[in-house]
Amino acid sequence: MPQKERERWGSGKGFLLAALGSAVGLGNVWRFSYVAGENGGGAFLLVYLGMVFLVGVPLLLGELALGRSTQREGGGASEVLAPASHWTRVGLLGVVVASLILIYYAVIAGWVLKYLVLYLRNATPEFAVAGFAPAFHNFIAHPIEPLAWQLVVMALAMVIVARGVERGIEAISMLLMPALGLLLLALAIHSATLPGFQRGVAFLLLPDWAALTQPRIYLAALGQAFFSIGLAMGVMVTYGSYLTQSHRLPGAAVVIALGDTLFAVIAGLVIFPAVFSFGLDPAQGPALAFIVLPEVFSQMKGGAMVGTTFFLLLTIAALTSAVSLLEVPVAYAMHRFGWSRKRASVGLGSVIFMLGIPASLGFGPWAGLTAMGGRGILDAMDFVAVNILLPLNGLLIALFLGWIWRRRDALAACDLHESRLGRFWHFSVRYTVPLLVAVVLIRSVWWSAQ
Ligand code: PFF
Repeated sequence: MPQKERERWGSGKGFLLAALGSAVGLGNVWRFSYVAGENGGGAFLLVYLGMVFLVGVPLLLGELALGRSTQREGGGASEVLAPASHWTRVGLLGVVVASLILIYYAVIAGWVLKYLVLYLRNATPEFAVAGFAPAFHNFIAHPIEPLAWQLVVMALAMVIVARGVERGIEAISMLLMPALGLLLLALAIHSATLPGFQRGVAFLLLPDWAALTQPRIYLAALGQAFFSIGLAMGVMVTYGSYLTQSHRLPGAAVVIALGDTLFAVIAGLVIFPAVFSFGLDPAQGPALAFIVLPEVFSQMKGGAMVGTTFFLLLTIAALTSAVSLLEVPVAYAMHRFGWSRKRASVGLGSVIFMLGIPASLGFGPWAGLTAMGGRGILDAMDFVAVNILLPLNGLLIALFLGWIWRRRDALAACDLHESRLGRFWHFSVRYTVPLLVAVVLIRSVWWSAQ
């Protein structure tokens, strides 16, 4: 519907909160803490910060600028700047990756919601009887129950996206994001009172230099930075396309990237001290949030309250991110096929839900199905999306920003011009980002081929 007036954010603050809502998600809490745990804690954080500033911020700024200057969603911005070229497919790849991530993201968000409800119903003591690990594995192996929770998540996302940019996405972000900040703050204050606080802080903040020699840490950090900020998926292009010229993009990019990183670090400062206080191991993989933490909460004084707060926080974080992932294909279908927002949200949301069914069943009836070197369906999707498709699309976007878009136009679109900052940004997207991402991508493809 190109002729219809474009939807807009109601305010700059609304845009920032929505973008933060997209960035802050399961990735900051569930993913960041276990990836950091598996990759040496402090050393990982150091590499991660490097990736955020060298790769994340320049790309984020470029994506917002692409969206705002073309006034087109993720899948369409390249059609405006490089019509009838192969670059139009790059935009499309973003739409595909966003949809792919949402397929399994909603499965995990469903697990989170189930745990929140368990805590709200005060039902975790029963859970403890079975043992936390068997209880979790029984739940995700159930053929129906996880699907029901996944459906609830998708239905909520569909309703919010169907209500539109300002009345749906922005309104929910204005409501939930401040609450999210408060919940995290409350958990952080509580964490400082735990006996393992110092050990947790040391684990996250003191680098083990030897870990820096392992190449896998760089791959993990880059993939995590892309996922956590929400880059290379068209989300930031799409959100940028609802902006007018009155907003300054460089400041917004820094606020979003820094806010996202800060959230992950504080979440780490909540999780690691709790884990150490009860003598458990943080390098437990994805089960950290669903097995180790519930066990910690069950032993902690006031743990039921802390557990409820934690899963409420995770639910909010996951929901606002799922919304942004759904908005990418929805905005694309609205423009490309002229669908109404409602039709696109419900139609695509339902398809994405259905495609998620195998990812969920992969823990139960379809547990025998493996791909990518013995990974289950959900793991394989995550691996392909985060380690291959995201860096690949990020590389292509950087090449587009640095080599195809006219330098003067690109700088103006970023509100930078030929300033020192402008030259730095252009150098980044022209050389630093493509080089770093290419090296990591080649390693990653080489690994997965092994
Ligand atoms: N950034 C979100 C998180 O950290 O969980 C997930 C996400 C949202 C990924 C939006 C990608 C995206 F486009």
